[in-house]
Amino acid sequence: MAEPKSHLFIFFLISSIFSVRSLTLSSDIIALKPLNTPLNLPPFLPILASALGISLPCWDFSTEPCSVPRVTHFTCGITCSGSRVVQLTLDSQGYSGTLTPFIANLTRLITLDLTENNFYGPIPFSIFFLPNLQNLILRVNSFSGVIPPSVTYLKSLKFLDLSRNSLSGSLPNSMNSLTSLSRMDLSYNKLIGSLPKLPSNLNELALKANSLTGSLFYSSFNGLTQLMVVELGENSFTGTLDAWLFLLPSLQQIDLANNSFTGIIVPKPPPNFNSQLVAVNLSFNRINGILPVNFIYYPILRSLGLSYNQLRGPIPKEYNKKGSMQRLFLDGNFLNGSLPAEFFSGDTAVTGSFGDNCLTSCPVSSQLCSKSQKPASICQQAYGGPADQGLNCQSNV
Ligand SMILES: *[C@@H]1O[C@H](CO)[C@@H](O)[C@H](O)[C@H]1NC(C)=O
Ligand SMILES: *[C@@H]1O[C@H](CO)[C@@H](O)[C@H](O)[C@H]1NC(C)=O
Ligand SMILES: *[C@@H]1O[C@H](CO)[C@@H](O)[C@H](O)[C@H]1NC(C)=O
Ligand SMILES: *[C@@H]1O[C@H](CO)[C@@H](O)[C@H](O)[C@H]1NC(C)=O
Repeated sequence: MAEPKSHLFIFFLISSIFSVRSLTLSSDIIALKPLNTPLNLPPFLPILASALGISLPCWDFSTEPCSVPRVTHFTCGITCSGSRVVQLTLDSQGYSGTLTPFIANLTRLITLDLTENNFYGPIPFSIFFLPNLQNLILRVNSFSGVIPPSVTYLKSLKFLDLSRNSLSGSLPNSMNSLTSLSRMDLSYNKLIGSLPKLPSNLNELALKANSLTGSLFYSSFNGLTQLMVVELGENSFTGTLDAWLFLLPSLQQIDLANNSFTGIIVPKPPPNFNSQLVAVNLSFNRINGILPVNFIYYPILRSLGLSYNQLRGPIPKEYNKKGSMQRLFLDGNFLNGSLPAEFFSGDTAVTGSFGDNCLTSCPVSSQLCSKSQKPASICQQAYGGPADQGLNCQSNV
């Protein structure tokens, strides 16, 4: 319902003729009003407080955010329901301030979105006094300190996006009590420690580019039947990726690239299992062993990245026969043998890279082989040639 500007002028005329009634709950105004703003509110308001620690140039407090007709577009993305502020969505205008404990005075807040500004300092503990908060979006700011453990009291929280800040410390232990949470993005922070038990209704988990450690344990993922996206690239996770990971029932995309995983167990899915897996990226790890054949049993897998690991053995020709596979990145391993001709035949050909391996036939005329193979001496050593280093693949790195 777009309001013609003339209606707004009439509204302002009327408001200046009649005294302004307080149409927004006074404590909500107090919470939003910056400390340094001159007091021009009704005198009964007891204290001044500011949830944002800044004055917003788009709202001088001379208009009522919750009055009718709505004038929300004059008031910094403040949206009301009745007399209560329910949404605060700031434009990305380089606002610089802090989030103060008074944010908790906006008790009906459903959405707080400060995306792409310069807010800094800690996320206040009092945030857990917001029982209705569903969307907490503070991405691309400079928040620091830990994620307050109290965040786990936000029973209504559906979307948590704190990505691209400077948050440190570990993930709150009782994270699994966020039973409504479906999307969580804490990527590009400085988080450490291991994964706790994750919220059970999660669809998307993104923790890319932090400093998380430890293995991926089934106990963290147990019961996450709706999990579709796992984005844990660029961390320091270790250990073996176990069969259960590939059998999470809704899983579509796994990105675990650029970690320190050393092993992988890819199960053949049981007959009644309807895998949703489309893309797997495990490049830039330290995975050793034979290139897993069982990926061919994932019917809609389109993209597989295993570049720059320590994988050995042949590239199964089934990788190509498998109709769904479109992108196959296997460069930078110790894969051996000759490559089946099927990989280079017309319309079934995949894109990707097989270079920097120990393949005996990889025609450089093919885009797949544009990067050359490893020197013969390195491959001989890897496969127990004259240097007789046995099958100790660590000997090459
Ligand atoms: C704001 O909340 C604090 C506690 O967080 C409380 O002490 C204060 O009275 C509240 N102010 C108003 C105006 O409601
Ligand atoms: C992997 O992570 C390291 C450190 O976070 C970074 O320097 C490097 O560029 C990353 N590599 C890739 C391929 O993303
Ligand atoms: C896998 O991740 C790496 C590192 O982030 C990236 O460079 C590469 O393009 C990705 N590969 C695929 C197949 O998505
Ligand atoms: C290829 O690798 C496999 C697994 O490591 C090994 O058993 C086999 O001998 C290798 N083949 C050649 C021709 O080096």
